Amino acid sequence: MNSDIPLQMLGGLTARQFLRDYWQKKPLLVRQAFTDFENPISPDELAGLALEEEVESRIVLEHGERPWELRRGPFAEDAFSQLPERDWTLLVQAVDQFVPEVAELLTHFRFLPSWRIDDVMISFAAPGGSVGPHFDNYDVFLLQGHGRRHWQVGQMCDSDSRLIEHSDLRILADFIPASEWTLEPGDMLYLPPRLAHCGVAVDDCMTYSVGFRAPSAAEVLTHFTDFLSQFLPDEERYSDADAQPVSDPTQIQHDALDRLKRLLAEHMGDERLLLTWFGQFMTEPRYPELVAGSELAEEDLLSDLEQGAVLIRNPSARLAWSEVDDDLLLFASGQSRLLPGDLRELLKLICAADALHIDNLGPWLGDEQGRTLLCELIKQGSLGFADDE
Ligand code: SIN
Ligand code: CO
Repeated sequence: MNSDIPLQMLGGLTARQFLRDYWQKKPLLVRQAFTDFENPISPDELAGLALEEEVESRIVLEHGERPWELRRGPFAEDAFSQLPERDWTLLVQAVDQFVPEVAELLTHFRFLPSWRIDDVMISFAAPGGSVGPHFDNYDVFLLQGHGRRHWQVGQMCDSDSRLIEHSDLRILADFIPASEWTLEPGDMLYLPPRLAHCGVAVDDCMTYSVGFRAPSAAEVLTHFTDFLSQFLPDEERYSDADAQPVSDPTQIQHDALDRLKRLLAEHMGDERLLLTWFGQFMTEPRYPELVAGSELAEEDLLSDLEQGAVLIRNPSARLAWSEVDDDLLLFASGQSRLLPGDLRELLKLICAADALHIDNLGPWLGDEQGRTLLCELIKQGSLGFADDE
């Protein structure tokens, strides 16, 4: 997409300007980011989702059995009729995986890598409802879908920021509001990571949070080294074939550290393995159990497509691709496949097209590796036939 076109959803900024001046830096309020916004899911439908086993949901009551009571879903049907008139919020995670019209919202965020996007969480709040002042460690776009919500944003926080004593919720003990706005349907507020914020429902309201994935440094190090270690033979060890006689045998000399640093650098600097790990890690599905497929023979794939069948990405799958020398890596829901460079357009199609059918797949169906890839992705569950939904 052209990064230099002013975007209404960014208040007339271009994607390039937004990324330069706001992304990961400071909040941006956009009035009518989406004009005539049509709420793609009603409060009742959201409550319905919160009854489902595979959906992650919670209710926060400011004045429940204890202050800021957290109830976890799935909920029973009568759970909502027993709630007070005000001061509670229902939050449902990853609604984009269950409601295609909500997933469509993500098409507006194509100026950011799709593998950075985590999910669309939707909250419904009764008047006064809030989850308390807090900070998140990831970027978020808060789109007002229905009713009004009053947002306050405050100081930058970190893991030293004081929290109230609570076993389940991370609510700030000290919140110093610096700016505030009341958002109406179609308005959107972007918040960078770690900025304290608190949104309180003015009326019954719904807020869509487009949240992002960013592994912590600790996750990068532990997961990458775990991944690397699978490829390291036991006999590869600390070695000091260059050793000199020591004057004090109880001292660890700095030349030992230099040997360790060389060992680490040699493996940590392996770009191909780093890319493979990162692509797999960033495409790990939130709900792996929802990415399940079935065996399909190549002849059946061909005849199904010829008869008009349409393949779509599983909404719970995550896909991305990259280049390694002349080859390509396809990442699909936590797995990677090395593929020849001439499949580039097919990979792009698989990762981004709304639907795969005989018309756009046609040229690839004559390619042995292309056909095998499609069958493998169907078997893995990242792709499926549209009418299987
Ligand atoms: C909400 O929608 O109530 C909370 C969203 C957030 O503050 O991250
Ligand atoms: Co938040």
